[in-house]
Amino acid sequence: MSDEASKKESKVEAQKRGSRHLRGTIKEVLAGPATHFDDSDANILKFHGSYQQDDRDERRSLRDTGMEKAYQFMVRVAIPGGSITADQYLALDRLADSHGNGTLRVTTRQGFQFHGVLKGALKETIASINHALLTTISACGDVERNVMACPAPLGDEAHRVLQETAREIAIQLRPASRAYYEIWLDEEELVHTQETEPFYGETYLPRKFKTGIALDTDNCVDIYSYDCGLIAIVEGGRVAGFNVVVGGGMGMTHGKADTIARLASPLGFIEPGHAVEAVKAVAAIFRDHGNRADRRHARIKYLIHEWGMDRFTEEFQRRVTFRLSPWRPLPPAAYHDHLGRHAQGDGRWFYGVFIENGRIADRDGARTKAALKEIIETHRPRVRLTPSQNILLADLTEPQIEAVVETLGRYGVKRVEELSAARRYAMACPALPTCGLAMSESERLMPSVVDAFEAELAALGMRDVPLTLRMTGCPNGCARPYTADISFVGRRPDVYHVFVGGGLGGDRVADLFAEDIATDQLVPTLRPLLTKWARERRGDESLSDYYQRLIGHPQRRQYVTGSETATARTLSLTVLP
Ligand code: HEM
Ligand code: SF4
Repeated sequence: MSDEASKKESKVEAQKRGSRHLRGTIKEVLAGPATHFDDSDANILKFHGSYQQDDRDERRSLRDTGMEKAYQFMVRVAIPGGSITADQYLALDRLADSHGNGTLRVTTRQGFQFHGVLKGALKETIASINHALLTTISACGDVERNVMACPAPLGDEAHRVLQETAREIAIQLRPASRAYYEIWLDEEELVHTQETEPFYGETYLPRKFKTGIALDTDNCVDIYSYDCGLIAIVEGGRVAGFNVVVGGGMGMTHGKADTIARLASPLGFIEPGHAVEAVKAVAAIFRDHGNRADRRHARIKYLIHEWGMDRFTEEFQRRVTFRLSPWRPLPPAAYHDHLGRHAQGDGRWFYGVFIENGRIADRDGARTKAALKEIIETHRPRVRLTPSQNILLADLTEPQIEAVVETLGRYGVKRVEELSAARRYAMACPALPTCGLAMSESERLMPSVVDAFEAELAALGMRDVPLTLRMTGCPNGCARPYTADISFVGRRPDVYHVFVGGGLGGDRVADLFAEDIATDQLVPTLRPLLTKWARERRGDESLSDYYQRLIGHPQRRQYVTGSETATARTLSLTVLP
């Protein structure tokens, strides 16, 4: 155990140990009149796929009138590879109306979230999700989280292997505890001492553990941002094996030099049949050596940062039954958002629908929820969620594709051809009013920030040049801001740190470009850089490639710390003509 990890354990460790394999007193509190759970149960509830939250728009007025917070719950469905049936989608759509706030949110990790679920409706919500043959187990909590994979529903073997591998890893790393079934599905209660948790043990992992699977030619899952990533090497249409990367993670804390957003490092190459064993070995190293004293340092990226890759590789090799092979060279990182119309290669078609910030809702101008419901009821496509918060409708015939496009138009949902690049690739985390950690707006503000950048870029003749804009309400990084071309990370209400220099490929960390910028100054702060880029770019050079060339550090940067200050070099860009 590292020095750090041997310090006094955090209170969450004791809560896990005392929870009798994730039971706590959740069942009892659910049956009682309280509007919410205590801290310990709320932490255990995360393993069941739910965060206790409160409506932050209401906080002040409730406090001023001496009332309790407006408690409510976020419920997250874990969907390995992001693939569900038409019936499952329709069940979730109904639940959003009957038990949530009338919206569904596609997450950046291929799950669905419900917001605004009241405690009295929590059990029925989770039970109904299970009746639709979906689950919320391990969607949150200190375990293997939802396992991601490229969702493109292509008929080739590589895409099929990716989906199957994601499902297999998810099954193999699920907690063994029956607590979930007892609490939400009324399974008869076990005496928990009859139960073992063979992989996780009594205290599960030190914190969350995220796995994704990408293709060598498509990094749509942003593979370098996870604890463990598999990159499929495709040869002659078959998956020859996987390059494994370890130690990525986005979350950091403002002002803390010892917190980092880090890209995953190359470990080596493995055969396809060793994928589950490899991921399990990486998770087991984290389980046994991760920091259990300070949750801010409890990610495998810190262990790797401290150990170095040589020691980590040795430990990995010691734990697996096969020999790790040398890393295989990769083509330049590419990215596909899968939007619009595509042939699947099996005579069918899929259509990628743009969902602004992943929020499926009926709003003025665009009735996305109603449009998807009508399309899915009528044509019964398979539904896939993308890591960029969009929806793919799969297994359609050509005439059905025409009908889909017509329906989207009728409900005011923008087709991909109508989107500027700035809007198409933008992402924002939920932040206010639901997220307890948000320091500023994100999802609610982002559309207007995109409007402003869209206008600026159009004026420069750059409307259709691919560019990623991302926003988060705090530095935890749920919308992966540190790998974007440009991102805004919340500092306090209406004030953001601005990062520049990542890119669509996801293999480069952005620099802190400007600090403490007010919302109305975001465009003016970036205008000189955008203008220079438009004028001086070589060929189809992206904003970040141009920026990296300009400041003269073209190599990949592996991490950025929470206490970085914008460098004189990057700041000087803002004043250059
Ligand atoms: C490190 C500290 C982090 C904490 C404490 C944290 C906590 C949270 C919380 C409380 C929410 C719920 C917000 C809401 O829906 O109201 C959330 C959402 C989410 N987080 Fe995180 N998060 C962290 C980092 C990350 C990172 C690094 C990723 C992925 C790269 C991530 C992925 C997500 C996703 C996919 C959602 C759902 C909403 C969305 O798609 O934007 N989180 N997180
Ligand atoms: S980035 Fe921060 S504000 Fe946004 S959802 Fe994640 S934890 Fe909440």
